[in-house]
Amino acid sequence: MQGEVKPQVCVVGLGYIGLPTAAIIARAGCPVLGLDVTQHVVDTINRGEIHIEEVDLDGLVHGVVQRGLLRASTQIEPADVFVIAVPTPFAKDGHHTPDISYVLAAATEVAGVIKPGDTVILESTSPVGTTEQMRDLMAGLRPDLKFPGKTKETPDVSIAYCPERVLPGRILEELTNNDRSIGGITPRCARKALAFYKRFVRGTCVTTDARSAEMTKLVENAYRDVNIAFANELSIVADRMGLDVWEVIKLATAIRA
Ligand SMILES: NC(=O)c1ccc[n+]([C@@H]2O[C@H](COP(=O)([O-])OP(=O)(O)OC[C@H]3O[C@@H](n4cnc5c(N)ncnc54)[C@H](O)[C@@H]3O)[C@@H](O)[C@H]2O)c1
Repeated sequence: MQGEVKPQVCVVGLGYIGLPTAAIIARAGCPVLGLDVTQHVVDTINRGEIHIEEVDLDGLVHGVVQRGLLRASTQIEPADVFVIAVPTPFAKDGHHTPDISYVLAAATEVAGVIKPGDTVILESTSPVGTTEQMRDLMAGLRPDLKFPGKTKETPDVSIAYCPERVLPGRILEELTNNDRSIGGITPRCARKALAFYKRFVRGTCVTTDARSAEMTKLVENAYRDVNIAFANELSIVADRMGLDVWEVIKLATAIRA
């Protein structure tokens, strides 16, 4: 839109998801600050270079840094939209408990600069309820602001969950063209997040609530995991029987009862 003021965006976490996302948002014309806790990551990106391997990402980052649309820092600054893409590994407790401490650390940083009208979007793969936990943490840190789901009045800020569903090696294409589910803490939050993604996503964006969107991502990952395990089992069985597993898979998927 001509003459339109583009939102200032802050992407928190500049790894395999955050850096391509930051670069794509910058390519859409929004000024982006990338925030990372690792100085080497920040320095590399500010030189217009990249610290990860991904097809075509180097040229894109170089271009948006040169045009002044993307810069990186270890210090957060005010923005209109915050996108959080930090790690969510398993805790080292031997029970596969999800460790959301990086998400909560990022939300604490965001809470320090958030202002009325802002939108916060969590993209990290997260257990159900994490977006609400993030909201509760920020609400505790910023009693001066009205948070969604915690007030009967119109909230000051919007909070949503929007998972990534990309395959390494095709990330730029997938970030742009894949369909997405966008889960708001409230329907209003979902609409705000949707308006943001429409700036750079060509795939269909479906709005839902935050908990359903969190569960959707976990279902997708589990489904993929089970299918990969099944294919591995098949190849072992076929090998033992002297069969070509590709031939069997081709026939099994081509011939349906
Ligand atoms: N890599 C994938 O293919 C993929 C696909 C879908 C979803 N995800 C999910 O996306 C999330 C991010 O994954 P990734 O692969 O990009 O991780 P990554 O390890 O590549 O990058 C994370 C970055 O966040 C930074 N960071 C950590 N804590 C921070 C903080 N408090 N503030 C600012 N920066 C911080 C780290 O220094 C690192 O550069 C995870 O939840 C992951 O499960 C990843």
